Amino acid sequence: MKRRTVIQGVGVLGGVAVTGGLLAACGGEDAPSGSSTTSAPPAGGATTGGGSAGGTELGATSEVPVGSARFFEGENVLVTQPTEGEFKAFSSVCTHQGCAVSKIDDDLMVCPCHGSEFSIEDGSVERGPAKKPLEAREVRVEGDTLFLA
Ligand code: FES
Repeated sequence: MKRRTVIQGVGVLGGVAVTGGLLAACGGEDAPSGSSTTSAPPAGGATTGGGSAGGTELGATSEVPVGSARFFEGENVLVTQPTEGEFKAFSSVCTHQGCAVSKIDDDLMVCPCHGSEFSIEDGSVERGPAKKPLEAREVRVEGDTLFLA
């Protein structure tokens, strides 16, 4: 009896983990209406209320300088504004060995670990050792506020 209880418990935990993974993978526009949304979002993944279309609020558009970028550490994302009013977002996980690309040097996003540099235009590699571009993320502007979609 006891062993069976333990096994069932593991099954439930496994289901929760899978559900969490699916939610994270699908995190985006509209929440699925028919599925369970009882599990809380992962830590640091606070979503906004107030009737917005969803997504994680990053901050004000004015926090991202034109022709440069800003690192949002809590979300592991870099938001760039190559030209005024045009916002792009990239994962801050360096494609070399996974450090956080946390430094901004004018129009470059710089990894402090080995010095790889990435373009604010498209996340492409400007200088190695990284060989692959930063992964693009979706960013949405609502009024003067940036949301990670
Ligand atoms: Fe970023 Fe090596 S981990 S340059």
